[in-house]
Amino acid sequence: MTKTKYLTTPLYYVNAKPHIGHAYTNVIADTFARFYKFTGEKALLLTGTDEHGTKIEKIAREKNLNPKDFVDQMVPHFKSLWKLLDICYDDFIRTTEDRHKRIVAKVLTDLETKGDIYKATYEGWYCTPCESFWTELQLEEGKCPDCSRDVQRLSEDNYFFRLSKYQEWLIAYIHAHPEFICPEIRRNEILGFLKEQLEDLCISRPRARLGWGIDYPTSNEHVVYVWFDALINYISAIGYGEKPEYFTSLWPADIHFVGKDILRQHTVYWPIMLRALDLPLPKTVVAHGWWTMQGAKVSKSLGNIVEPTELVQKYGVDAFRYFLLKEVTLGYDGAFSEILFRERYTTDLANDLGNLWFRMASMMDKYFQGEMPALASASVLHPLYQNSLGLWDLVCEAMKQWDPRQALSAIFAVVKQANQFVEENKPWVLAKSPASRDELAQVLAVLAEAVAHVAVVLLPFLPDTAGKISERLGRQDAGASFDKASFTKPFLQTGIKLTRGEILFPKLEEEKPQSSPA
Ligand code: MSP
Repeated sequence: MTKTKYLTTPLYYVNAKPHIGHAYTNVIADTFARFYKFTGEKALLLTGTDEHGTKIEKIAREKNLNPKDFVDQMVPHFKSLWKLLDICYDDFIRTTEDRHKRIVAKVLTDLETKGDIYKATYEGWYCTPCESFWTELQLEEGKCPDCSRDVQRLSEDNYFFRLSKYQEWLIAYIHAHPEFICPEIRRNEILGFLKEQLEDLCISRPRARLGWGIDYPTSNEHVVYVWFDALINYISAIGYGEKPEYFTSLWPADIHFVGKDILRQHTVYWPIMLRALDLPLPKTVVAHGWWTMQGAKVSKSLGNIVEPTELVQKYGVDAFRYFLLKEVTLGYDGAFSEILFRERYTTDLANDLGNLWFRMASMMDKYFQGEMPALASASVLHPLYQNSLGLWDLVCEAMKQWDPRQALSAIFAVVKQANQFVEENKPWVLAKSPASRDELAQVLAVLAEAVAHVAVVLLPFLPDTAGKISERLGRQDAGASFDKASFTKPFLQTGIKLTRGEILFPKLEEEKPQSSPA
């Protein structure tokens, strides 16, 4: 039996509404999950929310709410954005759920029994916003090395997890499994980090200082450190220790999608936690870059938020997905600007894809009453038709290389070629002479086939648009799966009726966008 591909996103902090950075991780993860299902594999996508910790406790207090009421109010913002963005997750886990808390307690108890956890007094510096402890040496000019904010001096009794015991093992593992951390630049970054001696990880917080966390199973005075709690979601959601059959049908995860800022937690802490539990490691951790504005990471604390909902309302869901997937290569940072967003929309979506559909469907209507002419055997040799069949291999290869941008480039190259084909063959001239009727039929049949193949490979990336095109072509491709053999033959039956429908990407009105390039 083939294993179900198990894909995860990070659990998002619910201290503020989701922004473009959060949407980015989920659009990438959704595209891959859709892609695997599209190629006939079983896949499960998990997302969710990270609901404990100081940040959340503090905001809830400011709003005069108890933390649970506050997080309950925030979670719907995430769920409704995922709906708006067509994120097809299969499970949504909240770290305040019992199914999660139970497993966190089990993991801690097991690790304690194994001798991988010990109690000690912690003396050092603490960064509240990052919820991280730092040694004197790690501070940069006396500030938190991650966020450059002030740190506090602390001395308290806590529980520690023996990271250091597994350091050599982890280094050897990363060398032996080059696919474990992608892209390569991030693998090198982690190997560089591992050259320094690892400190054991402080995995508890005194309840007196932080009340809002999962109870530490063997101490009434402590709660669990929020990162230690959150990472466990990847196994608690699939019933670790409780549903052995379900668990083994999914674990190890195939892909953890994360941003580059949370790579250390996913490629140092998490693998060591799994190793200590004698569990296999996720196959790959794929780290993407940041969206920036005016040179700084888009983030709530910097106040340079890009609101996904507004962009979707203005430009449509697929324009948003397209921009995120096409503007930067996965792994690199991207500067967000609405000017750039509008440019992409106009050139690629409105002028290329939208126009291609409109021209093809209008000419079919005008010259053949919307009925697909028979594709002649000679026409299947046409380079446009052949290139549209070739998209299967190109898209599969690009996705294997973690490169949805490349996949979209290949698809849009065929879109461009199809538009050129119209210019070169001038169907409106052929239509003037009855002697060219057959030629006209072949031009439109090849064109319609190219559009149909393009629409099918676009399904994982732009599900809304691809689904619409496929329906207008009289097909029901959304949710269907395909293989290489499907890309060796025509998709459209002779005589089926095509529906032109509304313009897919309406021309944008002139306007002054609010944001400018960095
Ligand atoms: N709660 C932790 C993750 C725990 S996973 C067990 C967390 N949450 S977060 O809400 O701060 O970030 C979640 C994801 O959003 C990360 O992958 C992060 O990289 C991504 N982004 C947040 N801001 C971003 C940008 N400006 N650009 C791209 N992605 C960034 O970390």
